[in-house]
Amino acid sequence: MATKTDYIAVFDSGLGGISVLRHLRQQMPGERYLYFGDSANAPYGSRPTAEVRALTLAAAERLMARKPLKALVLACNTATAAAVKELRRNYPDLIVIGIEPALKVAADHFPGGRIGVMATEVTLREEKFDALLHRFDESCTVTKLPMPGLVQLIERGKTGGEEIEALLRSRLESCIGNLDTVVLGCTHYPLAAEAISKVLGEGVVLLDGGPGTARETRRRLEKAGLLEQGGGELILENSREDPEMIRLAYELLNGERQNHGK
Ligand code: DGL
Repeated sequence: MATKTDYIAVFDSGLGGISVLRHLRQQMPGERYLYFGDSANAPYGSRPTAEVRALTLAAAERLMARKPLKALVLACNTATAAAVKELRRNYPDLIVIGIEPALKVAADHFPGGRIGVMATEVTLREEKFDALLHRFDESCTVTKLPMPGLVQLIERGKTGGEEIEALLRSRLESCIGNLDTVVLGCTHYPLAAEAISKVLGEGVVLLDGGPGTARETRRRLEKAGLLEQGGGELILENSREDPEMIRLAYELLNGERQNHGK
């Protein structure tokens, strides 16, 4: 049986889940968090789905063995698309929260609008995404925007500057001026939100699933009587055994690296 003092595990293919962890800690500062980023195997987004599934299941096992858990937040759209069903089946007593592109929020804010969805190749090709497309206002126009190369830059701490802006410009060129809103459907992307806004133009509203995922986690814990209001704790771990990754993760968490080009 889970107890209030158990940990909330947060998982991503690397540093991206930090953008979700920020919202979790804002909304539930009294919780204990165990974050694991699998940067040694990132990016997940261009791998075959079966590989992403196997990596995600292995990460969940590692987290389960590390601390007593009351919830697992998949702070990765790609891992959610590939493995959330299997995780729920494997751990029926654990609260498992996934994240998906905030398409519904976009359609609610921009009825009949022009919506771009930036996400990894896996997220955009999985059937979960197609199901999502059919659940909202069909008068909206949705453009899929895969972003190969972007996660790799962010994993190196490049959240702003010339290199990332050049990549964004080349990938987004054809839709600049043609979109009302862009959904950041990969948790790495909010870490580079300033650079993305700069390229798309200030008038394009960026939306991401982080706040909604944190609200849903809180709702589920509250419902189960598992919400903790203690002193809070954070353990950050990474599969790349390089202290630089942990330092980078803290900087991103504290917002000290917005628009960083070095
Ligand atoms: N952060 C992950 C997501 O939300 C994907 C990054 C990757 O390709 O590894 O989709």
